[in-house]
Amino acid sequence: MDIKELIERMTIEEKAEQLTQVNSSLLNKKSIADITGPLSGLGLTFNQISGIGSTLNFSRVSDVIEIQENHLKIDQNSIPLLFMQDVIHGCCTVYPIPLAMGAAFSPELIKECAAMAARECVENGINVVFSPMVDMVRDARWGRVAESTGEDVYLNSLYAKAQVEGYHTQNVAVCVKHFAAYGAAEAGRDYNTVDMSEITLREYYLPAYKAALDAGADMVMTSFNLLNGVPAAANKKLVKGILRDEWGFDGVVISDYASFDEMMVHGIAENGFECAYKAMEATGDIEMVSLNYIRYLKELVESGKINMEQVNKAVERVLVLKQKLGLFDDPYINTKPKKKTLCKEHRAIAEKAAVKSAVLLKNDGVLPLSDSFKKIAVIGPFADTGDIIGAWHCYGNTNDAITVAAGIRSLLTAAEVHVEEGVGFEIGAQVDSKKLKAAVKLAKESEAVILAIGEPSSDSGEGTSKLNLDLSDGQYELLKAVVAANKNTTVLLFSGRPLTIKRFIDIAPAVLLMWHPGTEGGTAAAKLLFGRYSPEGKLPMSFPMSVGQCPIYYNRYNTGRPRTNNDIRSPYTSSYIDGSNLSLFPFGYGLSYTQFQYSEIKLSNNRLNDGDKITVSVKVKNVGKRSGVETVQLYIQDLVASVARPLRGLKGFKKVSLAPGESQTVEFAVDSEMLEFYNEDIIKSAEKGKFRAFVGTDSDTQNYAEFELV
Ligand code: BGC
Repeated sequence: MDIKELIERMTIEEKAEQLTQVNSSLLNKKSIADITGPLSGLGLTFNQISGIGSTLNFSRVSDVIEIQENHLKIDQNSIPLLFMQDVIHGCCTVYPIPLAMGAAFSPELIKECAAMAARECVENGINVVFSPMVDMVRDARWGRVAESTGEDVYLNSLYAKAQVEGYHTQNVAVCVKHFAAYGAAEAGRDYNTVDMSEITLREYYLPAYKAALDAGADMVMTSFNLLNGVPAAANKKLVKGILRDEWGFDGVVISDYASFDEMMVHGIAENGFECAYKAMEATGDIEMVSLNYIRYLKELVESGKINMEQVNKAVERVLVLKQKLGLFDDPYINTKPKKKTLCKEHRAIAEKAAVKSAVLLKNDGVLPLSDSFKKIAVIGPFADTGDIIGAWHCYGNTNDAITVAAGIRSLLTAAEVHVEEGVGFEIGAQVDSKKLKAAVKLAKESEAVILAIGEPSSDSGEGTSKLNLDLSDGQYELLKAVVAANKNTTVLLFSGRPLTIKRFIDIAPAVLLMWHPGTEGGTAAAKLLFGRYSPEGKLPMSFPMSVGQCPIYYNRYNTGRPRTNNDIRSPYTSSYIDGSNLSLFPFGYGLSYTQFQYSEIKLSNNRLNDGDKITVSVKVKNVGKRSGVETVQLYIQDLVASVARPLRGLKGFKKVSLAPGESQTVEFAVDSEMLEFYNEDIIKSAEKGKFRAFVGTDSDTQNYAEFELV
């Protein structure tokens, strides 16, 4: 296919259509007569959609084939449609939500999961995944934290790269999103304003997008938010300036859903003509769902506001992607059954991911449970539901999910497993005395109780910001009553975000955070509870003590008046007068069924020459009675620099698997590149002076050694 020659032949109207993406419902019609209905509602004619470039929100592969067939019958230039879909944590086999995957501290694992999703995409008609979502998040009120891998730039960047590599194991294009800084929405309110210094933007928010692009991401989706006064889709400084000119990205830029139209709501465009103009000037290629390119691109070119080269360049990017994916040779390329969807191997990967992402928050010694128990109670709204797969689950089906009760039943075939709901999981769920009584009775009669509580999948994801991060009083009442009835109770916590659950933690003997663990969540939970594996997840996002602390994150800056004692009200220090500054659980936190002891840190040299390396090492010993895996974390603090530096930043981590009594020396190489940051002139370099290297079990560790960059 000679793309340049094809573009020569296309009319401006056809080019505008090629740059437009519509919902598949507009195209999924059998005859021209059928499509006049929805089209006339949009003020469109049949001709205006005959050359549409791409679509989203389709369902079965048979629909994909039919839509493509219909389209090719009417497209004057026979250009196949691109099918794009939100494949966020799996396609049909669903693995844990991205935030949970962050807790696994394992880029290799998310790569394996993304590769699995890609294998399902290529038999379900998907050409492009709207993933990875690499927005850095610090505010648990924002429901989309579930789609992110957490609050740390280093971890997110590794995960961004790994996901791109995973998807690219198949013929699937990758669209990284949402560019940029969508995760910093003020007050955690979805779509809200982002106003941010260039240092913060470049230091913390941009690197993960860049990492995805360096790994070969094919597309970029712009975000909904204002970034320093200009919505991303119209933000020339961001898209043309940073993404295109500075980073050299020449792939497709797509808007987020109807965000061209939203320029008018933001008040930076008076009409659709201006929306289309601003988007084209920012080098936006595809308009998702709204129709300003279709309506105004011709007029913009004819009036000389934009030139044909700009339009041609955008069309070329789209056609090059279609060519790269092989659509010109075979428009049905990703619709051939390969029998991978929900296969045994995929379920095993989903199970492994759910095991490795679970975080043990508390354990008074109840866990692991003995598998000689004969009578087990599974109580709570998540006891026997498939609604543990999480938000944005693509083609994942709650009916395919293994529930907690089912997971326990298939693991302990000789045990009786009884279920009581106790209370619902809705925000205002009240205790129903009959249900509570039944739950308490069951708890009393059982040897162990698994109390499965939390937030439903629909409480996280897009448009699910919250003012209150606690669980309902109904769930709390249930916990109190069940613990009073049976001390051998473990809370199995399901959630798409960090929660303010101190009151639950205080009275629960053990708490295992499963997040929204996907299709094999119940299998994983059972194997963890009954000690087939020891939990090894570490929090990728701080858990606030109180919602008033949000946003809360470990790599904060000091104030000039830091609070020195977190328990005492101290006047004129940077603190709250009615509560702690500390998180409930810090970033990197997570227990195991065994215990690990860290030795003092050793440095190969306490002077680091620019361009050289030193080794930071620590001995980690398993001093408990069981085998376990520890994620050893390295943080660095720059003590004095030309601009303030955070109290510490994650710079490396290593997993060690240790048998009881076993120890291992863990080494990290530290070089000057790891010490670089943006100064006031937005120049990135390392500055000479003193640093601290912290190595420990979480971001609160006080185990450190000092060195100097000379
Ligand atoms: C979301 C995107 C998503 C798009 C298409 C938007 O509302 O913000 O993340 O990719 O819809 O479904």
